[in-house]
Amino acid sequence: MAGPAFPDAAATWNKRFENPDYIFGLEPNEFLRGHAARIPRGSHVLCVADGEGRNSVWLAHQGMRVEAFDIAEVGVAKARRFAAEHGVTVNFAVSDCDAYAWPQERYDGVVAIFVQFADPAMRGRLFANMTRCLKPGGVLVLQGYTPKQLEYRTGGPPIASHLYTVDLLRAAFADMKIIELRKYEAQLAEGTGHCGRSALIGLIARRPG
Ligand SMILES: C[S@@+](CC[C@H](N)C(=O)[O-])C[C@H]1O[C@@H](n2cnc3c(N)ncnc32)[C@H](O)[C@@H]1O
Repeated sequence: MAGPAFPDAAATWNKRFENPDYIFGLEPNEFLRGHAARIPRGSHVLCVADGEGRNSVWLAHQGMRVEAFDIAEVGVAKARRFAAEHGVTVNFAVSDCDAYAWPQERYDGVVAIFVQFADPAMRGRLFANMTRCLKPGGVLVLQGYTPKQLEYRTGGPPIASHLYTVDLLRAAFADMKIIELRKYEAQLAEGTGHCGRSALIGLIARRPG
């Protein structure tokens, strides 16, 4: 039986984040930038696995009250510096997604950008936690790669079972109201980590209630 795809995720990601550059850049993810207006200004938002903090810092700039976590302490240290340099407050934590407290019905928004470190079993737990921690009426913004990305290899794990299809996301978030679910291709320039022609999928969904 195959072992986990990333047996020591913290060590792997800490090593990557030792690079003095911000490997996913300093700008937020484009799908998030284009859809953040779905989350009202001043809202309480959780940024899942936000690495070096580009999305959480930008959300704080937009007037959100932001919490963020990531497994890699080196990434979170860079994110804390990034927020301090830009004069915004983000409540950062170092945590594995399976160890995170996931307070129920707490957030107006959950933002999960390229969290495809999760294999199908972990993804099931992660998506359920992301849904449950939203308040009724809260909005999820999710961006990932589709299996076509295996041809481009311009970012993301080269493991088919970690990638998302429209059907997979529709089934995973069957309890949510899907506002937008779009498979598309675009040229990404998000640091050196996500760079070039990319096969993407974006989801906006609202927790009913
Ligand atoms: C592709 S990066 C995306 C980072 C960030 N969301 C962004 O868009 O810039 C994936 C992130 O997941 C984090 N990660 C990997 N495994 C994790 C786990 N089990 N729990 C929490 N974070 C994890 C990594 O440290 C890394 O920051």
